[in-house]
Amino acid sequence: MLLLSVTHVLLSLAAFVSAAPAGTLSAAVLKSSSTLPSGTLSATAADASPTVPLASDNPNYPLWNDTVDYAPQPIRGPLGANQLGPQNVPIDKQNPDLLAPPTTDAGSILNAKWPFALSHNRLNTGGWARQQNIQELPIATQLAGVDMRLEPGAIRELHWHSADEWAYILKGSTQVTAVDQNGKNFLETLNQGDLWYFPAGIPHSLQATDDDPQGCEFLLVFDSGDFNEDTTFLLTDWLAHVPKEVIAKNFGTDIAAFDGIPGQQLYIFPSNPPPDNATAPSDPQGTVPESFGYRFSQVPATPLAGGTVKIADSRTFKAAKNIAVAEVTVEPGAMRELHWHPTEDEWAFFLEGNARMTMFGAAGNAATFDFQGGDIGYAPSPYGHYVENTGNTTLHYLEIFHTDIFQDISLRQWLALIPPALVKAHLNISDELIDSFNKTKATVVAPDPYLKTF
Ligand SMILES: *[C@@H]1O[C@H](CO)[C@@H](O)[C@H](O)[C@H]1NC(C)=O
Ligand SMILES: *[C@@H]1O[C@H](CO)[C@@H](O)[C@H](O)[C@H]1NC(C)=O
Ligand SMILES: *[C@@H]1O[C@H](CO)[C@@H](O)[C@H](O)[C@H]1NC(C)=O
Ligand SMILES: *[C@@H]1O[C@H](CO)[C@@H](O)[C@H](O)[C@H]1NC(C)=O
Ligand SMILES: *[C@@H]1O[C@H](CO)[C@@H](O)[C@H](O)[C@H]1NC(C)=O
Repeated sequence: MLLLSVTHVLLSLAAFVSAAPAGTLSAAVLKSSSTLPSGTLSATAADASPTVPLASDNPNYPLWNDTVDYAPQPIRGPLGANQLGPQNVPIDKQNPDLLAPPTTDAGSILNAKWPFALSHNRLNTGGWARQQNIQELPIATQLAGVDMRLEPGAIRELHWHSADEWAYILKGSTQVTAVDQNGKNFLETLNQGDLWYFPAGIPHSLQATDDDPQGCEFLLVFDSGDFNEDTTFLLTDWLAHVPKEVIAKNFGTDIAAFDGIPGQQLYIFPSNPPPDNATAPSDPQGTVPESFGYRFSQVPATPLAGGTVKIADSRTFKAAKNIAVAEVTVEPGAMRELHWHPTEDEWAFFLEGNARMTMFGAAGNAATFDFQGGDIGYAPSPYGHYVENTGNTTLHYLEIFHTDIFQDISLRQWLALIPPALVKAHLNISDELIDSFNKTKATVVAPDPYLKTF
């Protein structure tokens, strides 16, 4: 046993020395020999020689934020140099971790940030819509998003599509209607922070009420990265492309009855706000068995050490078979803990505040992105990540997944629930620290009293 350990240590040392760059060689040898007291080769990590260089002690705070009144430069400590060519200063101010990345970033990770502000906007009378799909953000293969605005009474017209649609109301209230494959109907008026869900192919409509004098705006998320908002199946577009006599035959009338139908799609158009007391017409088949609406705004959030969380998935919002959400708040300096999601990609939408996320993509690849309200972030399922509040106000964002049940794996919980010696053998940290790891998932950890906040 002792012999084996000695051989292992010597082999490891030899491997390290031969892999070390010339300049670090003497230091490495010195360090190793000073940690090898003769005759006491007990197998604790601290006593063993390192098989790889230790991680740097340097912190890697974002170096500025978008409130600074100077043009930030791509310089971090001794690395980098000032910019001589043209500079897009507002974008550099918003992305400190792209221009002067943490030294822990390495290799290549596909771009994981898309601000809706960079999307083409489709303006109509009564509102607009802009989207992010796999064309804007190629890493986002499992989900796509749309930001849609309707003035009071304006209608996103009757339509259906091949992806499931999930929505979160950003402001105002929206009347939504649908009829399912069994002829059961649905009508509900939902408010800010509420959700709706329409399975693929279910025909539906969205209309702003005048509860808010400005109407409404909502976020739509689809369970397919290549969903395209411009190729949904619209009532008016369809009827404008069916021979008139066929339409007449379908409804048992003459062609003249359809003289007034639009010759092309309406998509978003103005109309009168629906009455407050609107209800679905009586339906001999009954109403849909699982409501397509969910009053998520009325669900209390779970308080956590550094913020709050509330989850809506098919366990609570039964109709939401393929999309789940965690609505998270993170206080200044606090952080959504290091974690990943076992099989589902995360499509994150930032509502307010400032954040950064480092995506760890295995094989030494990592990249850090900064976010603010209106930005989308994307973490493929196995990518380890965190979401840190880097601003001085509460961070509020949504984690959205293509799944029926929300799930995540917490790094801290994982390490608290395996033999401490195993953790120590990997991380070479103190027994006291390992003992302090909490066996309950933190989700959002409190600010670290030992570290600076931003
Ligand atoms: C463990 O960490 C100490 C510094 O805290 C270092 O001196 C030692 O070489 C490390 N041991 C291993 C095996 O990495
Ligand atoms: C809704 O309210 C209007 C005006 O108060 C009333 O005329 C109408 O009958 C109501 N409709 C329903 C379905 O209650
Ligand atoms: C931006 O950074 C400055 C300087 O570190 C800090 O005083 C300020 O509070 C920060 N602002 C925000 C919004 O985080
Ligand atoms: C946050 O930062 C902004 C900009 O630096 C500053 O104007 C504001 O007073 C700060 N708010 C708080 C609560 O510190
Ligand atoms: C562990 O975490 C739970 C939930 O966050 C908390 O209630 C508890 O106080 C923590 N325990 C310790 C020992 O820190």
